[in-house]
Amino acid sequence: MITLGIETSCDETAVALVRDGRAVLGDALSSQIPLHRRYGGVVPELASRAHLEVFPQVLGEALQASGLTLTEIDRIAVTAGPGLLGSLIVGYQAGEALAYSLEKPFVPINHLAGHLYANWLAYPDQDFEFPLLGLIVSGGHSLIIEMTDHHRFRLLGSTLDDAAGEAFDKVASLIGLPYPGGPEVSRLAETGDPDRYPLPRALMHDPAHPYDFSFSGLKAAVRRLITDERLTEVSYNRSGGSNYADLAASFEEAVVGVIAAKVRRAAEAGTYHGLLTGGGVLANRRLRARLETLAGELDLPLFVPPPALCTDNAAVISAAGHFASVPAAPQPVDPNLPLVASR
Ligand code: KG4
Ligand code: ZN
Repeated sequence: MITLGIETSCDETAVALVRDGRAVLGDALSSQIPLHRRYGGVVPELASRAHLEVFPQVLGEALQASGLTLTEIDRIAVTAGPGLLGSLIVGYQAGEALAYSLEKPFVPINHLAGHLYANWLAYPDQDFEFPLLGLIVSGGHSLIIEMTDHHRFRLLGSTLDDAAGEAFDKVASLIGLPYPGGPEVSRLAETGDPDRYPLPRALMHDPAHPYDFSFSGLKAAVRRLITDERLTEVSYNRSGGSNYADLAASFEEAVVGVIAAKVRRAAEAGTYHGLLTGGGVLANRRLRARLETLAGELDLPLFVPPPALCTDNAAVISAAGHFASVPAAPQPVDPNLPLVASR
């Protein structure tokens, strides 16, 4: 069965064709990063206009790469939320129009579910058994969830304020690095000393929030350090890394340490067949390495998609669409669409 997936929730216009939810036959992606970079973040109005402009071309490229024609498509899966309203509407309406004209099922998908379904593409031969533990860390979300079946999720914890990727992006802009800041901060952190600056790790021992995150205090601590006169000038440590590299590494270590501690707690509290991960922050090397160590200690199979499947793309939406039941329940565009209604 062939699913055509469409993703336009933020600053990536993407279309992909996936067979049986496991094999990418063709995908195309147009990134708006150069468009938004000069503003230091995504400008919603510019984003939706750009989606509208490039969508037909991206659709054509994905189809061409797959060697398929529109008539060979069995269903259309589209991100319905969460994301930017105007951006979501572009992909959603294009998908609805395609589904209507081809007389095929239209399947609205939660973007966050897509991040977890990246694992079905990254490990095509893996026979996933439920329940699975899931970790999603992206620019807009930080969640620990339990997946009890296809498209059945139970929320264990989420962020009370900033998402992990958002914290990376904000710290990058405090240091003066361009948007999106996650990859820039992690590159800078490579030469830094993660123990140089002690930074706060929130909610580590709060019984009311065993699996929740809070990253805004960490961001504020980084801001205070930067305005501190010791950091206004660049200096170098003995291994050649700058004080800014030390700050980036200390920040990264604080984020990764909290995530790993919360995942450990969740994994120890339940019985799971594996740990699924997804979201742009999983492109971070320190996080990937820490989760590998943790999974080894817990004897829990770990699944980490390659970076291209961790950041936003349409193949993961196609995969999620394949495993959804049709006819799908109606789901209009919702910028705040939750993965699970409530805890
Ligand atoms: O999943 P994603 O592509 O978009 C959302 O759904 O939000 O995630 C993007 C986020 C951005 O905040 C970006 O800075 C972060 O992922 N990111 C990283 C790295 N690469 C991307 N954060 C830390 N280290 C990285 N290497
Ligand atoms: Zn995402």
